[in-house]
Amino acid sequence: MTILIKPPKNGTKGRCVKTSQAVFQTIVSRIALLNSMNILDFGTGTGLLAFKIAPMVRHVTGIDLSANMLKQIEDKNTPELFVEPLLHDMLEHPLERRFNGIVSSMAMHHVENTRKLFETFYAHLKSDGFMAIADLEKEDGTFHSHGNEGVHYFGFEREPLRQIMKDAGFENIRFHTACVVKKGEKEYPIFLVTATKG
Ligand SMILES: C[S@@+](CC[C@H](N)C(=O)[O-])C[C@H]1O[C@@H](n2cnc3c(N)ncnc32)[C@H](O)[C@@H]1O
Repeated sequence: MTILIKPPKNGTKGRCVKTSQAVFQTIVSRIALLNSMNILDFGTGTGLLAFKIAPMVRHVTGIDLSANMLKQIEDKNTPELFVEPLLHDMLEHPLERRFNGIVSSMAMHHVENTRKLFETFYAHLKSDGFMAIADLEKEDGTFHSHGNEGVHYFGFEREPLRQIMKDAGFENIRFHTACVVKKGEKEYPIFLVTATKG
């Protein structure tokens, strides 16, 4: 059953919280998260998705280009529930580390070079690693009601994206609908695409 996200009382923040919850539920319904896993959350923001995953795995690294966002992760961290904040541009400067899985919610449309993004994800995964990436289906540019600064794509079409992932080397590429965000009369579906390295 698809989760429908109606306009929450606390606006954009509330919508992000509900979206990340729906993305998390879709991830755990498709992928077995294990307490041996090291996971990277790309474009982690304030860690909405990362903090949900953290109790289920060994370690979560939340990577982002915004120090302000990552500061909020630092503020939320406790010894019991911890996400490692990492201020780093992994597309330009690859990390030394390799991960069991890479997750991401609503960050891909902020990255101009989608092909390089998936090549980078592939290179940062262990040989049997997985990827679970959520973003908007193709939309008409009205989703970001506060403007489209920093938005490189008004969502994505599934088939061209599947081809880009295939070209990067990914296998077992599957699309799922994580939720549908409702704003006025308009509906914006959000997909989760899962894939494996090996
Ligand atoms: C719409 S926010 C989503 C945040 C979070 N994933 C969530 O669902 O609440 C997109 C995030 O992607 C980050 N971002 C954009 N380009 C990035 C890049 N090349 N590397 C890492 N993070 C990036 C932005 O700084 C921002 O925090």
